[in-house]
Amino acid sequence: MHQPRVVLGVSGGIAAYKACELLRRFTESGHQVTVVPTAASLHFVGEATWAALSGRPAATETWERVHEVPHVRIGQQADLVVVAPATADLLAKAAHGLADDLLTNTLLTARCPVVFAPAMHTEMWEHPATQENVATLRRRGAIVLEPAVGRLTGVDTGKGRLPDPGAIFEACRLVLARGGLPLDLAGRHVVVSGGGTREPLDPVRFLGNISSGKQGYALAATAAARGARVTLLAANTELPDPAGVDVVKVSTALQLREAALAAAADADVVVMAAAVADFRPAEYAAVKIKKVEGAEPAPVALVRNPDILAELSAHRASAAQLVVGFAAETDHALEHGRAKLTRKGCDLLVVNEVGAGRAFGADTNEAVILGSDGSETVVPHGPKEALADILWDLVAQRLK
Ligand code: C5P
Repeated sequence: MHQPRVVLGVSGGIAAYKACELLRRFTESGHQVTVVPTAASLHFVGEATWAALSGRPAATETWERVHEVPHVRIGQQADLVVVAPATADLLAKAAHGLADDLLTNTLLTARCPVVFAPAMHTEMWEHPATQENVATLRRRGAIVLEPAVGRLTGVDTGKGRLPDPGAIFEACRLVLARGGLPLDLAGRHVVVSGGGTREPLDPVRFLGNISSGKQGYALAATAAARGARVTLLAANTELPDPAGVDVVKVSTALQLREAALAAAADADVVVMAAAVADFRPAEYAAVKIKKVEGAEPAPVALVRNPDILAELSAHRASAAQLVVGFAAETDHALEHGRAKLTRKGCDLLVVNEVGAGRAFGADTNEAVILGSDGSETVVPHGPKEALADILWDLVAQRLK
């Protein structure tokens, strides 16, 4: 079997130490990795570490082993190039096609997918120069993961952290799995909701549902691997953030509605995979509801939640915006699905039969995707990522 060849570029930021973990993930899962550190990065992690972890010499210099023409060969032979961490300086060089060391040379000769995982202080990330460089790289088809938010070097916190190495690895795995297919969602803003809402009854109780968020997360991760800028609206999930995805945490249906309307304002497509509670308690008790000895509990009055999917479909941010819904049905799935598609006014509806351990919380799914144009796409039983990719195929066709 072909052993995928990965080039791990490391530029000079303190997050270079996290690239050791990323390298291990690759080598332990059967990838052949050539590490190309910049000279500055060797201040943070030395050549010996890269050589020991990759089992191959680290390639540092354009002028070493010149007869092998390394500045051309390493890039040409790669199935994937990932730069982690990518500093502001490295992004600038890549955006302008500079080639003054082996890593920047490699970036110019690579014809495979290229993933940048930036890490820097928030000010540097937000600077218009960096943002324009990132936009240039994305426009040319590179995948630039959004940095994570959290503690930075020193005492400050903000956006700019290198995403978790496990999450970068997952993103790279999905890009490699596409086998060089075009990044058909590049330049698109994709909004996905996942998980299940909770409607509080009192400070310690809520009405909720058993949605795990796995399908929504699979949609977000696969969209990022196809080049999209992704906003994931995560309702009460326990899953790790996918790398390069902007995650907005919400809890109630009303919070999800607000976040969805805000994110949808400039979105090309909105996918509502979250299980949204149809009802919420009419009253919220500010103190915990007590049981009264010898008395039955008072009934809980419910009121309807707004239907976010129907609202998004009816008030689109642009005529070209696509809206996708999910429908979990326990019986007569297709019949109910068709009616729901019309009622909600969305473009595509993913219909799956649930119950008996199917779909909710599982890693696999099967469905039929109904289109407002009358189309029906059968998604056979398989990983939630596979369903996600089939949905993105349909979305990409319709966005063209
Ligand atoms: O009506 P039903 O709950 O079956 O519809 C499911 C679809 O509608 C899902 O895409 C879900 O995210 C969305 N939905 C919504 N707002 C609600 C209820 C469901 O957006 N209040």
